[in-house]
Amino acid sequence: MNNFKIFSGTSNQPLAEKISRILKIPLGKLELVRFPDGECRVRIEEDIKGKTVFLLQSFSKSVDEHLLELCLMADSARRLGAKEIIGIIPWLGYSKQDKEFRVGEAVSVEVIAKILSCVEFSRIILFDLHSDLIKKYFSIPIVELSAQEKLYQAFKKDFSELSSAVIISPDKGGKGRAEKFARHCGLPVVYLEKTRDLVNGKISYKKGKKDLSGKTAVIYDDIINRGGTVIKAAEVLKEIKTEKVVVLATHGVLAGEAAQSLESSQVDKIYLTDTIFISQESQFPKLKVISVAEVLAEVIRKMASN
Ligand code: R5P
Repeated sequence: MNNFKIFSGTSNQPLAEKISRILKIPLGKLELVRFPDGECRVRIEEDIKGKTVFLLQSFSKSVDEHLLELCLMADSARRLGAKEIIGIIPWLGYSKQDKEFRVGEAVSVEVIAKILSCVEFSRIILFDLHSDLIKKYFSIPIVELSAQEKLYQAFKKDFSELSSAVIISPDKGGKGRAEKFARHCGLPVVYLEKTRDLVNGKISYKKGKKDLSGKTAVIYDDIINRGGTVIKAAEVLKEIKTEKVVVLATHGVLAGEAAQSLESSQVDKIYLTDTIFISQESQFPKLKVISVAEVLAEVIRKMASN
């Protein structure tokens, strides 16, 4: 297995280290320097000529810095003669800006896709994309992985009473995602109707009509950003007598006061993955972080042996 190397940018070193331990291959050495003016200088310090190179970077805060770091890592890999450069971007920042919501607004994720498509990646591995539109913006092959099974197993382990669980689709955009997850678990779906003000981001929900007495409502979403969606959804669900509200989501952006707000909300338990690094200080009692390292290690193993 020494025909490939894995390098990590600065955004999610713990995830890269987990993958390296699973695959029993040390992470590649990389010089990554930041000059006082913020400029970044990158140089891979390994012999990668003729090798397949995996470059891992999540576009978490600081999003733009992490994006550019990855592009520079790819350029270094190209200059050193890598056979194939595969980008692993567990969290693709800018994903929510996937269409022109208001006239004239930049379709940011399309721009990101164009940038990544011209940095000579042969493939890019992504996780649970916000919408199907995103893949279409790339002119290079995309491999989309999912944390669905990992989240389901974690939930199942902690809540053995699966017969009382219902999957909640928190909004129109997440309908397909929630339905797919519900089919995966063999559970029914309940739909909530959300509206979000496009200017100030304020969220409101239509009052629920069903009675969910005795049920465990499992809100399945892709991203927890400021937490507003699931916090409001949990309030509506508790109003219709739901016994427990559990949240399963892949990407824990946890912006601003999200951690504190979620801890003091009606949400009983929240499962997020490590596609974005969540430091010990940002964790809170209701949160459980599930790793996607095994999913990635499996794919790297397969790609490297082809
Ligand atoms: C919305 O389209 C997404 O799927 C998530 O529901 C949303 O990004 C969550 O954001 P927040 O946590 O800020 O409500």
